[in-house]
Amino acid sequence: MIGALFPLAKPLLHRLDAEAAHNLTIRGLSLLPTRRPPPDDARLAVEVLGRRFPNPVGLAAGYDKGAEVPDALLGLGFGFVEVGGVVPRAQPGNPAPRVFRLRADGAVINRFGLNSEGLDVVRRRLAAREGRPGRIGVNIGANKEATDRLADYVACTRALAPLVDFVTVNVSSPNTPGLRDLQGEAFLDDLLARVVEARDAVHPGTAILLKIAPDITLAALDAMTATALKRGVQALVVSNTTIARPATLAETALARETGGLSGRPLFKPATRLLAQTYLRVGTKIPLVGVGGIDSAEAAWTKILAGASLLQLYSALVYQGPGLIGSIKAGLVARLAAEGAGSLSAVVGRDAKTLAALPD
Ligand code: FNR
Repeated sequence: MIGALFPLAKPLLHRLDAEAAHNLTIRGLSLLPTRRPPPDDARLAVEVLGRRFPNPVGLAAGYDKGAEVPDALLGLGFGFVEVGGVVPRAQPGNPAPRVFRLRADGAVINRFGLNSEGLDVVRRRLAAREGRPGRIGVNIGANKEATDRLADYVACTRALAPLVDFVTVNVSSPNTPGLRDLQGEAFLDDLLARVVEARDAVHPGTAILLKIAPDITLAALDAMTATALKRGVQALVVSNTTIARPATLAETALARETGGLSGRPLFKPATRLLAQTYLRVGTKIPLVGVGGIDSAEAAWTKILAGASLLQLYSALVYQGPGLIGSIKAGLVARLAAEGAGSLSAVVGRDAKTLAALPD
């Protein structure tokens, strides 16, 4: 039903400032009666992280930062929902305006800066839904003013790991000064060791994921994948938003806004990095492909590049929740055309070619 309403609501939403429109959609979802998600074709099921995901199409971090509407989002047909980013103490983030639609590019620039109601609020909301069906992850970060950033990740892990299927360590947001320095080898090794230790102490069954930036060098990717494997990270999420501004952007004035770029222009660099990551980790751990998915074809390409699970956000701004069903239907059609019984049969099949995608 929401999918059918979106074309009517879109002109209104897009006349509003992007953050106001976002808040309105969260409010709308919070008012809906919770529905059971529509049943998925069995061929879309994915078995990873010791769990069964009914379909691979997930909601990326940053939409439901406060875990206000995870069950309504699952009801739209997502196979899983990543809430957050969450930081331990409530913080306002950067001053508004801080999110911009680059309509002609099918893109978004945001510099929210991990605005968060804080750990206690999010923990309470997740605890209130405990026991309900549906796969939920949480994206965690550090407070801007933290004196010990590693301790912030540990605090989030301790508090939230018992309530979710996976915790994603976000060291790749471009909007918290210095956060991406945590991607450096020595920091990352220490950070992941401490997060894994915290998880083991409270809830060993919860998976730890690491989300990386698209702007890293291949040498840095070598080091990060090696460290992640060594520390027992169970999946990599590739990728976060980019600070790059491709020369092809049509919205040249908005392109000058500071922040992370997502959506269609991110598809190529994020898919190339995903394929490069697949070439390094192979089938040792699964990959979550994210960045610019706006169609079944884009989703299929991510899978061929090495993704076992997918996430999207920006394309929802332009296409609404009807996109979820059309991606799933398109994936089933691809599988049928290939005569493949499941997506796992084709994961990474074109990684070599896609790792060399030209700009
Ligand atoms: C994000 N993203 C993000 N990522 C993250 O790890 N923690 C976060 O808190 C946020 N917040 C956030 C806010 C907004 C407004 C956007 C648009 C994005 C990044 C997001 O999860 C995803 O990695 C990128 O947006 C790329 O996917 P799409 O949007 O191209 O499908």
